[in-house]
Amino acid sequence: MSAGNEMPERGDQPLKKEIKHFTTMAREAWDEVNPRHQSYKKKSGHKKKFLRKNYHTLPAPLHEAFLDYGLEGRSVLHLCCNDGEELVSLKKLNAGRCVGVDISSSAIHSARVLAAGLHLDATFEVADVYDLPDAAYGRFDYVLLTVGALCWLPDLKAFFATATSQLKDGGHLVIMEQHPFSAIVEDDMKVSETFGYFDKTPYEEAGDLDYLGKEAYEGKTCYTFHHTLADIFSALLENKLQLSRFEEHPDDLSNLKRELERAPQTFPLSYLLVATLNIPT
Ligand SMILES: C[S@@+](CC[C@H](N)C(=O)[O-])C[C@H]1O[C@@H](n2cnc3c(N)ncnc32)[C@H](O)[C@@H]1O
Repeated sequence: MSAGNEMPERGDQPLKKEIKHFTTMAREAWDEVNPRHQSYKKKSGHKKKFLRKNYHTLPAPLHEAFLDYGLEGRSVLHLCCNDGEELVSLKKLNAGRCVGVDISSSAIHSARVLAAGLHLDATFEVADVYDLPDAAYGRFDYVLLTVGALCWLPDLKAFFATATSQLKDGGHLVIMEQHPFSAIVEDDMKVSETFGYFDKTPYEEAGDLDYLGKEAYEGKTCYTFHHTLADIFSALLENKLQLSRFEEHPDDLSNLKRELERAPQTFPLSYLLVATLNIPT
């Protein structure tokens, strides 16, 4: 990540037009990187491994949470699902109705191919999460968000409102993400001199998003957003979601902080959050 100096400081509530500006750039960047990710997954043997019946890509704390809260037959809406691996993993583990949404048509094409290749019934739709109406595809037992998704969302409160409006009463919002603290610690374990934990300036990504094959290319300009733990908890409270599980973990799920994962002193590099919608009667 590098600081996007030309961009103005963000106010508390980005305008709809401003949100669209950022999500359009994100779409183009993700459309551009997806073929690279797919070819890396093919070459590295990952795609072949994924075909195995019991193989899945859920991090252990997320898998455990679904087992604890119950997965068999339960419906899942995965927002910002990319190429669908995590949702297809849940389907392999006997989830009920599964719908994945992503802004990148290239990623959604890959997700459909993945599910069809395994003869699994999961639906994938191209959409900007900020454009989803209430109960866009019905109401779900779970709304899921996984690693590397929240940083693409300029307005957390608006996103949580949309996510909540897809849940059944008693349903759960489940987030397994990079820990916001990890963003300010560099690989050499020094605190970043360019990026502060409370920094609200949109960050211009270096241009290439190939965190898998690490191919360097002249990528499209796009921006990410840093949300603190307080931003996340405030967005939950505003949407009347009740926190029911919160865990911090020393595991890097992003493939970007491997050095820190191996450090003698452990850092919080990821977290799992479950929040429940209880509509008062
Ligand atoms: C790092 S992936 C996260 C998914 C998954 N954990 C993974 O690692 O493949 C981020 C995804 O968010 C999607 N995304 C970003 N902004 C979005 C938006 N406004 N609406 C829907 N999807 C969005 C991108 O297209 C990308 O596929």
